Amino acid sequence: MRTTDLLTMGQVVERSGFAASALRFYEREGLVQATRTTGNQRRYERSVLRRLAFIRAARNVGLRLDEVAAALATLPDGRTPTRADWTRLSRTWRQRLDDQIAALSRLRDGLDSCIGCGCLSMRTCAMSNPEDVAAARGPGASFLPAPLRSPA
Ligand code: FES
Repeated sequence: MRTTDLLTMGQVVERSGFAASALRFYEREGLVQATRTTGNQRRYERSVLRRLAFIRAARNVGLRLDEVAAALATLPDGRTPTRADWTRLSRTWRQRLDDQIAALSRLRDGLDSCIGCGCLSMRTCAMSNPEDVAAARGPGASFLPAPLRSPA
């Protein structure tokens, strides 16, 4: 590949919208690759832009960085996601988004009963104890570490 086909960090920053620090971080995490010039400056293949677009989309869906890395690792030889790859990978994210939307809807609906209340009761408040998850943890201040719950 000719060096003129490669992008400088500044070009990638400008075209992708990612900060240089983010590019360096993603390189350290193995999500993108860069070669070095003899002067030790980073150079990127143009395909890095598509890879960064994939990372941004995945992060917008709420994937953790390790999940993004795992998704990219399913591509052979570190390939940049093709349209077919994108379709396959993003299909698995739909359920995740549906679950997030449902959770937010429950949160919104619970807010109605909290407006003007302010009790933040662990027993009854849907905002401070959604779906009464505290009940399954047993009586008392169940979110405190066990040593702090026991009488001294
Ligand atoms: S603040 Fe009282 S029910 Fe949520």
